[in-house]
Amino acid sequence: MSRINNDEVLLKVENLCQYFGPTKAVDNVSFDIKKGEVFGLVGESGCGKTTTGRSIIRLYNITSGNIYFKGERICAGTFSYKTAIKEAKSNTKKDIKALKEESKNNPSKKKENNAVIEKKKRDLDAFITEQKNKIKSAIFDHKYSDSRYSQKCVAKVAGEYNKEFTDAKTEAERKALSLKYAKKFKIAKNTRLITKIQMIFQDPIASLNPRMTVREIISEGLVINGIKDREYIDEKVYEILELVGLVREHAGRYPHEFSGGQRQRIGIARSVIMRPEMIIADEPISALDVSIQAQVINLLNELRDQLGLTILFIAHDLSVVKYFSDRIGVMYFGKMVELASSEELFLHPIHPYTRSLLSAIPLPDPHSEKTRERIIYEPLISHDYSVNKPTMREICPEHFIYCNDEEEARYKEEFGL
Ligand SMILES: Nc1ncnc2c1ncn2[C@@H]1O[C@H](COP(=O)(O)OP(=O)(O)O)[C@@H](O)[C@H]1O
Ligand SMILES: [Mg+2]
Repeated sequence: MSRINNDEVLLKVENLCQYFGPTKAVDNVSFDIKKGEVFGLVGESGCGKTTTGRSIIRLYNITSGNIYFKGERICAGTFSYKTAIKEAKSNTKKDIKALKEESKNNPSKKKENNAVIEKKKRDLDAFITEQKNKIKSAIFDHKYSDSRYSQKCVAKVAGEYNKEFTDAKTEAERKALSLKYAKKFKIAKNTRLITKIQMIFQDPIASLNPRMTVREIISEGLVINGIKDREYIDEKVYEILELVGLVREHAGRYPHEFSGGQRQRIGIARSVIMRPEMIIADEPISALDVSIQAQVINLLNELRDQLGLTILFIAHDLSVVKYFSDRIGVMYFGKMVELASSEELFLHPIHPYTRSLLSAIPLPDPHSEKTRERIIYEPLISHDYSVNKPTMREICPEHFIYCNDEEEARYKEEFGL
């Protein structure tokens, strides 16, 4: 099923933390998505899936961590650097105090200790400078990743233009080239990297403005990006409506005139008109009747092929993502607890939370459904993290589990590794 034709990483999420006061909505989550891949993000309501998606499209100033898209750092948090400064200051202060204490009790050590103190102060200063530079660079990237990307686009167009210009023989050819490239330069200059990621929301009713026509809703992104040509906009809207299985006559109507499934198609149209490279689909079928859920999944699959999309597909249960995803990440309470290919995850689920999610999927056969045993996940019983702390570990190739030393050994033994 995989359409991934290379190992190019399109999106890289690195130690993402998003805290809302005391709530650690997303806590140290890392994963990457390859170009052309569908990555399923699964977990029960409130585990931080939407927050992860919203962080990626820069709706928040993330607490800490980094997000890279097409190689550009588009999000960078500063909290971890600030915390590191605070910790270093307090540790140094403690060390110096102990050294001074020692000098007082043992004056023969004073000279030696003073030298150590001076060294500690210098080290601290150097460390603070280093962290402050990281903060500066994080703020800079967050602010300027879009313009840096558009500069790259402009440079690429300039390269093409220069080549064609050198090859052009007549004045007329050169004039035509200037005209052709004027438009290309303008598009390159106006390119915003962040619009290459578009999000589709769970609730197609709440996310569509009831006072706007379908035409206005779908073309909003174009208009915001400075496109004014009415004819061009209409043409694009009609093209996209047909692409998502609606008709051009729908353009003049309002959202309430449509069924749930059609509304979600409008939501999808609104995101694909921006020609994104990546779509974040946040539970796009959860609010829909079961009968039309498959249609929307099929549409996303078709678009994925036609437009070469990469998809982050968010769902609260595993059955939805099973056939659609290349890889799946399972989240529990702000943490990623298991990450593997879709096939591997269903064949060899390891983390007890994943197992409990799998046991919640109803079986098609009524007999086995009757005897299906639900596994309840109880973190306090399943894990003892009082001494040895868990981290994300690769248990077998490309299969990652959040676990500690004891669990890692046990899981590996279970698999005969
Ligand atoms: N803007 C916000 N302010 C405060 N808390 C939030 C905000 N958004 C989400 N949360 C909290 O963060 C946690 C994760 O929420 P969310 O990402 O929406 O989970 P999911 O999409 O997996 O259901 C929840 O506890 C939620 O209450
Ligand atoms: Mg959500």
